[in-house]
Amino acid sequence: MAKEFTVTPWKVEGEVDYTKLIKEFGVEAVNDKLLDRIKKHTNELHYMLKRKIFFSHVDMNFILDEYEKGNRFYLYTGRGPSGNTHLGHLVPWIFTKWLQDKFDAELWFQMTDDEKFIFNPALELEETNRLAYENALDVIALGFKRGKTFIFSDIDYGKTLYKQAIRVAKRLTISTTKAAFGLTDSDSVGKHFFTTIQSVPAFLPSVLKGKNIPCLIPCAIDQSVHFRLTRDIVGKLGYYKPAGLYNVFLPALNGPKGKMSASIAETAVYTTDAPEVVEKKIRKYAFSGGRDTVEEHRTKGGNPDVDVSYQWLRFFEEDDKKLERIYDEYKSGKLLSGELKEILIEKLTTFLKKHQENREKARKALDSYILKD
Ligand code: TRP
Repeated sequence: MAKEFTVTPWKVEGEVDYTKLIKEFGVEAVNDKLLDRIKKHTNELHYMLKRKIFFSHVDMNFILDEYEKGNRFYLYTGRGPSGNTHLGHLVPWIFTKWLQDKFDAELWFQMTDDEKFIFNPALELEETNRLAYENALDVIALGFKRGKTFIFSDIDYGKTLYKQAIRVAKRLTISTTKAAFGLTDSDSVGKHFFTTIQSVPAFLPSVLKGKNIPCLIPCAIDQSVHFRLTRDIVGKLGYYKPAGLYNVFLPALNGPKGKMSASIAETAVYTTDAPEVVEKKIRKYAFSGGRDTVEEHRTKGGNPDVDVSYQWLRFFEEDDKKLERIYDEYKSGKLLSGELKEILIEKLTTFLKKHQENREKARKALDSYILKD
């Protein structure tokens, strides 16, 4: 029997059973038929689709039906700015960038500085607001198109958002927020209200442009809970229900299951970490699927399915052939655990060096991506 686990937008614990989550969250598995359909429009499939890192969806066929009729969709995703960006956050953003390029779609990116203030007792609003703009640099650094990418802090775009959030709030009951999120009578009204703010970008462009535009939300599966409510309510408001494409979590460095946490610095790699720091964290903390002795490893082979270095390469090594070779060599015992770690270190430090350069360049471009009112 699988172990107990919890997944809510604010807490992920235990060994996540994604098959169970599909049922629990009312989403559908991404299957080969859907992948073929996407491929018809993109020519190639992103490695995160092929590897089923994006493993589930809601209404992707609706998005493609409309697209095929000439009704283009926009993308919506976001970030709760509670600290520095880590690699787990980049996973859906990297994929979203690919979607933007392939479908020439707008991206609306929400920074929920209000959410992190409400939910985190230790954070002041000034801090989450500052972090919103620091985190925005990571988004821009990935290469999202200027003029097609709109990033906003809930606080600084509040006038526009609030007007729509109250339309959602009017139709949302406390019994629903309790059932959906596990909130209770002792939770603040801020927590109960917050989901209405997160629902707004799922239809705001339709409001602003005065016509219905389909919305696709690529993000980690924990956020799908919000959008289930959003779908019910915005349907009633007369807008398209947002579609979703949902990814599994990047595991923490020290354990093969669960989700990386931004608040445990040793087991997460941040986009701002220096190469020596990345090296040290991986050598010291990356959970190994290797054997106790080199001899045993050579004869029996390692276990890539639990080895976090291998798991991380699945998320960041684009080259399928290379990844397959690493898998085979590790499993056969030819590749040692330490060597596998070095492959990951090389991959990540190269990626982060470029990312950090782009991130600094993004400071100058920041204003041209930000919406305020
Ligand atoms: N609540 C999300 C978080 O804590 C931030 C967010 C807002 C978001 N809107 C979103 C994430 C849309 C994914 C999709 O990270």
